[in-house]
Amino acid sequence: MGGTRREGGRPLTPDRPPATDQALFRARAHVRDAESILVLTGAGVSADSGVPTFRGPGGLWKQRRPEELATPEAFSRDPRLVWEWYAWRQERIRACVPNAAHLALARLAWGHGRARIVTQNIDGLHADAAATLPVSGARGNAMPLELHGSIFRVRCTSCASRTARREPIDATSVESLPTCPSCGELLRPDVVWFGEPLEPAALTEAFELAAAADVCLVVGTSAVVHPAARLATTTRAAGGHVIEVNREETPITSIASISLRGSAVEVVPGVVSERRTANSE
Ligand code: OAD
Repeated sequence: MGGTRREGGRPLTPDRPPATDQALFRARAHVRDAESILVLTGAGVSADSGVPTFRGPGGLWKQRRPEELATPEAFSRDPRLVWEWYAWRQERIRACVPNAAHLALARLAWGHGRARIVTQNIDGLHADAAATLPVSGARGNAMPLELHGSIFRVRCTSCASRTARREPIDATSVESLPTCPSCGELLRPDVVWFGEPLEPAALTEAFELAAAADVCLVVGTSAVVHPAARLATTTRAAGGHVIEVNREETPITSIASISLRGSAVEVVPGVVSERRTANSE
């Protein structure tokens, strides 16, 4: 093996065994023919943009325990420490841009009336990808359903008002932490922490999409955090196909019709880009 194989003058992906090329072809056909598509993404889709994942080598949860930083108890105990961690993550994410997988998925959702992106990511990169699309009524379709919130939004710990906030947070002392302009209480990141419920409306919509989908395309999630991980199972139980894109095997692999091993940027554009869409030129 090795080198780039060619077939009829068309270059194939280097070092990819024929079974994988067949799987890619079948995945593309499922996506092309689907009436309704749910795309579920996790940290792996943003890894190629430079956003750290949670698990695996170099993952955020290798360095810190979730209970120290991503729970309401941790925030009550030491809001400065929790804000410092989110401010650091914000700074890293601010330097990142959407990659070829985000862009291909945004284009799919934009062009296909019944495709939606549901993400566990709080980095805003799917929304940034949607913002690169031509302005039209359909651009809203490419906006993701953000199940775990957004690192670029804040929420009041008292009156629960929410606002977008991209400016850096000063977490050098408790006094410098951001406070609510309406009631003066401490603001917190508008993200879902462990032990907290997901936004009921977003959750209901996500499960309705999953139940109605002919294809659930799962990209870059370890599928160990619920309820998000159950979306793929819901599509499968309703008779749809699950297509997984991941560098590794996950709990989703056993229910997937097709598993594509590789990075999101290498694989996703090839799975979704050939779909003919209402908005395609
Ligand atoms: P994880 O860090 O658990 O998993 C990332 C997944 O992406 C793994 O399965 C990797 O194999 C895969 N991966 C890594 N690089 C990839 C690449 N370039 N292309 C494709 N796949 C790649 O992240 P999530 O599954 O998103 O929740 O984690 C789920 C939730 O756990 C997060 O939303 C967060 C976390 O704790 C909260 O904070 C509530």
